[in-house]
Amino acid sequence: MSRLVVVSNRIADPRKTAAGGLAVALGQALEASGGMWFGWSGRIVEDGTPGQGEVTQQQAGAVQLVTLDLSREDHDSYYLNYSSGVLWPVLHYRLDLADFDSGGIAGYRRVNQLFAQKLKALLRPDDIVWVHDYHLIPLAAELRAMGCEQRIGFFLHVPLPPPLILAALPEHDWLMRSLFAYDLVGFQSQADVTHFERYASDELQAQWVGQHGWRAFGKTLQVQAFPIGIDVDEFQALAEGKDARDMLTQLRSDYARRRLLVGVERMDYSKGLPQRLKAFRTLLQNYPENQGSATLIQIASPSRESVDAYAALRAELESLSGAINGEHGELDWMPLRYIHRNVARKRLPALYRAAAVALVTPLRDGMNLVAKEYVAAQDPDDPGVLVLSRFAGAAEQMKEALLVNPYDTARTAETIQRALQMPLAERQQRHQALLARLRAQDVHWWRERFLRALQATQETEKEP
Ligand code: ADP
Ligand code: F6P
Repeated sequence: MSRLVVVSNRIADPRKTAAGGLAVALGQALEASGGMWFGWSGRIVEDGTPGQGEVTQQQAGAVQLVTLDLSREDHDSYYLNYSSGVLWPVLHYRLDLADFDSGGIAGYRRVNQLFAQKLKALLRPDDIVWVHDYHLIPLAAELRAMGCEQRIGFFLHVPLPPPLILAALPEHDWLMRSLFAYDLVGFQSQADVTHFERYASDELQAQWVGQHGWRAFGKTLQVQAFPIGIDVDEFQALAEGKDARDMLTQLRSDYARRRLLVGVERMDYSKGLPQRLKAFRTLLQNYPENQGSATLIQIASPSRESVDAYAALRAELESLSGAINGEHGELDWMPLRYIHRNVARKRLPALYRAAAVALVTPLRDGMNLVAKEYVAAQDPDDPGVLVLSRFAGAAEQMKEALLVNPYDTARTAETIQRALQMPLAERQQRHQALLARLRAQDVHWWRERFLRALQATQETEKEP
């Protein structure tokens, strides 16, 4: 059987905590199949030479972790300036936050070449290579230029915006062409696939050849939606663990006479945090019965703090949360518990289960795994309600959640109130439908569907 080689910028020991959907999902997917996981070590060599880096190997259960150090210059230009400072905002429809003049593109190309060079030395001819996310879009093109003929698939964890937004990227043509070096490209949602198809036909003059195939530059590329899932059993087992049970008991006693709401994410402007806090404030103002009762625990873990837009967001959230507690807090109750720290993964299920309502209201999100984890953690006999942004990829699969437009503060507040008041039978019905789909379309289904489709391209391409 072929070996699976997964490549991503961020990697994590699958047996440890990781904040970020990619590391969590890939850890779970790889643990099941074994294989190699290749990526950045997380180490920055202050006086390192650009385009060079040391490789370290270690075994983590069934997974061989192979990591690459980056020089300070490479890290800053490839990861901070281009991936986080240009690609992330553009892919999340935030042209206003993209720093197109940062000059990071040279480092982005250089690090993709470095990844290709180091990876090529480790590849076997029958490996199946699966590349992840926007940091590594040109990786297959680099590997092909070095003579690699293995099947190579790519999965984009974040959204792909419509062509006219993508076109604001000075390098959009080069980046989108380089996708044709892959055999299969997967997106999170049907909306993303539609945007790709419009781009491919209008900008690249690619031809639709049926069966998910697009032909251009002498190559057929398969393109499909593969919505990522979670490991439902693993998450439910986590909920049964001692840490989670102890924490649940504590939360239930602390909030016995109150209603708990929860939000959990990396602190990122794509997550709609200021809009969410404003909707919560409107809830307290418009529905006074929540005064003294509704309590939002908002966890926003530190992320990409040396990128300016993130520092600005932190300042905004600190001021907004202070204002809300100042306006509504009482001597024995604060409406908002805002925590700018990581929470151990094993404690998340208790937080989710104790909360009557989860607020998952990104302005844009490729998928959003927190929405799925919240549903998996609920008690089926007395489940909480998920309030979900229609702009999260998860909304395509989770129609039984209460869908909101996070820009519409008053309607979002109204929907949160509806969630808090939802009768038990309706909560159970919605939860049952959501959980059934979560189980059917879990992280293993995602991995198997993608790899099956990648294998199938091999057969197609070999036809005369
Ligand atoms: P993204 O990939 O943009 O960070 P997702 O919602 O898809 O967003 O995935 C986030 C993952 O990281 C989830 O598995 C979630 O449980 C975890 N996570 C997010 N924020 C935190 C946090 N503050 N503490 C612990 N885990 C977190
Ligand atoms: O899931 C989207 C994503 O951008 C991943 O690629 C990334 O690993 C994660 O969010 C966390 O971000 P970062 O790696 O920049 O800390």
